[in-house]
Amino acid sequence: MGIFSNLFGPKAPELHDLSVLHTDMHSHLIPGIDDGVETVEQSIAMIKGLMAFGYRRFITTPHILPGMYNNSAASIMPGLALVRQAIAAEGLGVTIEAAGEYYYDETFEEMAKEDDLLMFGGKRILFELPNMHEPQMLRHTVFALTCRGITPVLAHVERYPYLYEKGLSDVEELVNMGVEMQVNIGTFTGIYGPQLQKAAYQMIDAGLVSYLGSDLHGEKHLGYITRALHDKKFRQVLAKHEFKNKEL
Ligand SMILES: [Fe+2]
Repeated sequence: MGIFSNLFGPKAPELHDLSVLHTDMHSHLIPGIDDGVETVEQSIAMIKGLMAFGYRRFITTPHILPGMYNNSAASIMPGLALVRQAIAAEGLGVTIEAAGEYYYDETFEEMAKEDDLLMFGGKRILFELPNMHEPQMLRHTVFALTCRGITPVLAHVERYPYLYEKGLSDVEELVNMGVEMQVNIGTFTGIYGPQLQKAAYQMIDAGLVSYLGSDLHGEKHLGYITRALHDKKFRQVLAKHEFKNKEL
């Protein structure tokens, strides 16, 4: 019985909070500008809730979806300033910055060519895809971004079954093209279905996932994190895999 006998057995190491991640890089904590928190008081309550799981730094990512959430630096940065003031007033020992969660559509294809993208962690951009089909120009857009030194980070990759239904080769190809993948912590509860949960674990096991995110919109997502942390398999994944959250 060496140390290896413990790696996959019942004594495999587990973590009981998210402090190993340090930084959450996907959330909706700017009040009143998307379907996330509505007031600065809610924002502070959610930040305190996330702090209780061990997070100390936040990159919050309001939706950018022209026609529905017409956000840009002009709407996001004043909201960020309010949240920062409230954090200081409460004396919370956390830092917060803001980027955006870009929805992939034709407008995004155009926006991706411009210079005023909201980025984080150096030159990274968080984006999400349509749920039902892969956009025709996806790889082209990814290539154009990476040519400019920008790393596209795909939000909740497990939500796009068309990318992994026939195996992981499409996800692998995107990763090889320079896309970093993010999985939502809520997915590990099984609340979005067993298919997404299984895919999330498979992609992590295959070394394809760089980040975990809360994708917190409100109180219920704090509950999802609590539920995920009740799951032994998730606690083992936290201990075993090196996510890149803390490097941001
Ligand atoms: Fe989100």
